[in-house]
Amino acid sequence: MNHEMLEEIYTNAKKWVEEAGENIRSKINNPLTIDTKSNPNDLVTTMDKETELFFVSKIKGTYPNHSIIGEEGYGDELTNLDGTVWIIDPIDGTMNFVHQKRNFAISIGIFHDGVGEIGFVYDVMNDVLYHAKRNQGAYKNDTKLEPLNKEVVLEKAIVGMNHFWLCNNLTVEVGTMQKFVKHVRGTRTYGSAALDFAYLAEGITNGYLSLGLAPWDVAGGMVIAGEVGVVTTNVDGTPLDMLNKSTVVASNQALHYQIIQFIKEGRK
Ligand code: IPD
Ligand code: CA
Ligand code: CA
Ligand code: CA
Repeated sequence: MNHEMLEEIYTNAKKWVEEAGENIRSKINNPLTIDTKSNPNDLVTTMDKETELFFVSKIKGTYPNHSIIGEEGYGDELTNLDGTVWIIDPIDGTMNFVHQKRNFAISIGIFHDGVGEIGFVYDVMNDVLYHAKRNQGAYKNDTKLEPLNKEVVLEKAIVGMNHFWLCNNLTVEVGTMQKFVKHVRGTRTYGSAALDFAYLAEGITNGYLSLGLAPWDVAGGMVIAGEVGVVTTNVDGTPLDMLNKSTVVASNQALHYQIIQFIKEGRK
């Protein structure tokens, strides 16, 4: 993608993210219609759908040849990442949105021929926008984020992960994860994968683990965190498949290796 096109897409996307955020804030106390999807705790609201539709209509109206992958299904059914693909999570952290009215984000990753070019994670209620263009650094609002080049050992690391790691799961032995939780300095569960990536990029956490994330959970955050040196893979160290669900280990290079090694012994 040429420079001018990238800048134009970035400027439009930023404007639409801010507009969508403003809309959500203005309606935050309005009554919600809440439905469930795969299970009673998998929530979706009219605001998730309204926000995704807003992006789809803006993108398709402006860039009819771009493709869209969106959580709520208003995008396209893709079998490859050819061309320009917008990967959208209109509200990441819907449970927080419903129960807390905060701690959720709009997440957008814009990929070109499979490469993440632009990322946005918008912490809507705090009006904090994390954003990045590939090879141009990552920003929290107007502040450039520092590269994560300090050595961190696992014993001094704060790791974002949820408690399902400590329940029986198909990926890693529970005993290994119990050891892991005791081994690290601390763990955090924020309830929004996109914010987890943003906090990693900011350097306020050091690692992030998930048992199963969809492309829209990670696309924006991966581009942003990648700019400061965060490596994102499956728990076995292989690259993520941006068309399917994956397990996720994200952190700077040195710690990433330590996490992968620790988990290796308990991997199923
Ligand atoms: C969820 C959040 C959560 C993660 C879940 C995701 P949603 O996204 O990112 O932190 O643990 O796996 O599904 O459904 O609120 O957009
Ligand atoms: Ca969801
Ligand atoms: Ca999500
Ligand atoms: Ca969502």
